Amino acid sequence: MSQNFPRIWRSHLSSFDATIALGRKLGQALQPGAVILLSGDLGAGKTTLVKAIAEGLGISDPVNSPTFVLVNEYFDGRSPLYHFDLYRLEPAGVAGVDPEMYWEGMEVEPGIVAIEWAERLPYLPGDRLEIRLNHSAPPDVVIENPLSGRDICIQQFGAVPGWDIADFSEYF
Ligand SMILES: Nc1ncnc2c1ncn2[C@@H]1O[C@H](COP(=O)(O)OP(=O)(O)OP(=O)(O)O)[C@@H](O)[C@H]1O
Ligand SMILES: [Mg+2]
Repeated sequence: MSQNFPRIWRSHLSSFDATIALGRKLGQALQPGAVILLSGDLGAGKTTLVKAIAEGLGISDPVNSPTFVLVNEYFDGRSPLYHFDLYRLEPAGVAGVDPEMYWEGMEVEPGIVAIEWAERLPYLPGDRLEIRLNHSAPPDVVIENPLSGRDICIQQFGAVPGWDIADFSEYF
């Protein structure tokens, strides 16, 4: 039975490599049906994390944020990866997004769904991992030192196939 209250885990990613390592680990563990919702500062590392998840899934096609389409689909790993980026969507466009088709795996092969700028979704699945990434330093410091660390806050709602938030405490 899935829990309907979130469990929270916070940490610090001290470098780009730390973000990549976490994404790879997630990509190695996640199973079809897992929904990862990403939010946070511009340039905080959402796409970086999705690229590393793809690597962990064994995807070798280059992963880039979808710009002209809503979702990029990757089928060359051990599970499909559906990568959404809602940044450029107007509110009216968001209403037309049909993400549940992907997370329910109804008309598509079940896979892992990663959604950047997920705060723009009109509704959310009950079972999900929400990952918020933010620059650890104030913006003026970030401009001088873009390699500064990132704060990461993860909330798990319900069940996430292949992963449990408690796994993070063993990972770090
Ligand atoms: N600790 C870190 N974690 C992730 N990225 C980092 C880190 N340190 C530096 N970077 C750099 O920050 C940038 C993050 O860019 P990325 O496109 O992943 O961010 P994003 O959150 O997807 O941005 P957007 O809001 O435009 O979608 C990359 O250039 C990356 O090399
Ligand atoms: Mg991005």
